[in-house]
Amino acid sequence: MEIKTAVIPVAGRGTRFLPVTRVVAKELLPLVDTPIIHHIVLEAARAGIERIVLITSKGKTGLVDYFDTEQVEDDLLRNIDIIAVRQNVARGLGHAVLCARPIVGNEPFAVLLGDDVIDSKVSVTQQLIEVSRKHEGAPVVGVMEVSEEDTSKYGIVGGKEVSPGTLLLDKLVEKPKPEAAPSRLAIPGRYILTPDIFDFLENAKPGVKDEIQLTDSLQALAKKRKMYAYRFEGRRFDAGDKFGYLEANLYYAMKRPELRDRAKRLVSDLAEELRT
Ligand code: G1P
Repeated sequence: MEIKTAVIPVAGRGTRFLPVTRVVAKELLPLVDTPIIHHIVLEAARAGIERIVLITSKGKTGLVDYFDTEQVEDDLLRNIDIIAVRQNVARGLGHAVLCARPIVGNEPFAVLLGDDVIDSKVSVTQQLIEVSRKHEGAPVVGVMEVSEEDTSKYGIVGGKEVSPGTLLLDKLVEKPKPEAAPSRLAIPGRYILTPDIFDFLENAKPGVKDEIQLTDSLQALAKKRKMYAYRFEGRRFDAGDKFGYLEANLYYAMKRPELRDRAKRLVSDLAEELRT
């Protein structure tokens, strides 16, 4: 099984990041000097993805411009086909993924969400593809542990461990309160999906926030076929959140040899200077 296509929904309005998102797509905000979308597409490219379907909306054309070939210096990125599909109504993540159906067709595909940036030795998408391959091409979601009060921010999974780090799933719940959460394992926006998800998305009823939720359709699919979660290796940032964005910027600055020492000194000097 080869996974060549990745869907990256970027139609969200970025309300958590106002006011800058009035004029700039949140996915174009830089981590040091490199837009978030560049990190996401690079993760896909490192997993052998050849075609990216960007699900866009009004005000997001800059994201497509960003990948214009003449400007792209990175070889991995230059060889990737970027296809933009418009989601012209805000009906949620599940609906955004469904918009990719005419392009994806009958092949398995990856989904990467633009709010989640993950730094890892092996691309997280690649890690999930390997798990899917081990399990006859089954759908796989990446998971990480979150605190109890954070379960209501994510899709949360429940299941039983079949090998270290891999769970066979029987529950996927969108943004449950801690008391309703099947575990503390959350999906930070990385999925390997099979095309049968599209039928569920097409017939899905709105869920949390009155939106078509990908998690709800995955729960329905998990009743019909085996589906897995994998605790990936990697450092994840919620780059769609103000603090997570700051954290990611400091992290990537400190990874740059030319900025590392000054960035570290800056953080400790500022902490001292602003002590109250
Ligand atoms: C979406 C998904 C949720 C997932 C999260 C990861 O929620 O619906 O299942 O855990 O992304 O970032 P959103 O953050 O768009 O509300």
